[in-house]
Amino acid sequence: MRIDVLTLFPGMFAGPLGESMLKRAQEMGALTVALHDIRNHATDKHRTVDEPPYGGGGGMVMKPEPLVAAIEAVVPPGEGIPVILLSPQGRVFDQAAAFELAALPRWVLVCGHYEGVDERVRETAITDELSIGDYVLTGGELAAMVVIDAVARLLPGVLGDPTGATDDSHATGLLEYPHYTRPPVFRGLAVPDVLLSGHEANVNAWRRREALRRTWERRPDMLLNAPLSETDREFLLELAEEEIDRKRRQVRRG
Ligand SMILES: C[S@@+](CC[C@H](N)C(=O)[O-])C[C@H]1O[C@@H](n2cnc3c(N)ncnc32)[C@H](O)[C@@H]1O
Repeated sequence: MRIDVLTLFPGMFAGPLGESMLKRAQEMGALTVALHDIRNHATDKHRTVDEPPYGGGGGMVMKPEPLVAAIEAVVPPGEGIPVILLSPQGRVFDQAAAFELAALPRWVLVCGHYEGVDERVRETAITDELSIGDYVLTGGELAAMVVIDAVARLLPGVLGDPTGATDDSHATGLLEYPHYTRPPVFRGLAVPDVLLSGHEANVNAWRRREALRRTWERRPDMLLNAPLSETDREFLLELAEEEIDRKRRQVRRG
């Protein structure tokens, strides 16, 4: 997969791209990230990339000419390669969007800055907009790194354990079950016996139930769309009954 990133601050990417899984993904040839400095496409002697907004108000707006020139230098128009603007106004980036991008051979990320980009950039050169959440960052660089990281770990061979990404929270429509490692007892808290039993079917059944329990407790909204078996539904009913009993006891106690 090749990702082209257009940014005013290419230096911001060195740390995340040079460590851990993103470094590994590039070294093994699964991922190429090409950084492009938008400022190289400014044409005046001051290399201007931003101007005050028409209509007044604070801040600066990224000018259309250098940004569109930078995009077109990377992907000539009409090639069908997605050009994605990072924006707090975009569709929210989630695990489903990460899987969609992981299936594409090539795409482009455009990082805004200041007050954002001139609207005509969106209209002429952007095919999609992604937000990493309902808050506003200073620039699109950190958002781009979040998107690249979430997608790169889905590429074949990048995670050492091929099941690593398939059990993850959100990949299955549920939050993931809790994890334990050595030692068997830590500060008086023991690892659940089933995980030490070596009985794979029982371990899997326990993990499924704990994933359901965690999702029920923390993100019940996700259960509306999660694929559920009859056994899952029966377990969720048990959880609901336990909660009703708990609430009844609370009411009786006053
Ligand atoms: C300060 S923000 C501009 C916000 C803009 N004035 C607005 O209210 O929609 C500057 C840049 O940061 C990036 N950015 C900020 N928040 C983001 C988010 N939640 N997700 C993705 N990108 C974001 C975008 O590239 C944006 O152009």
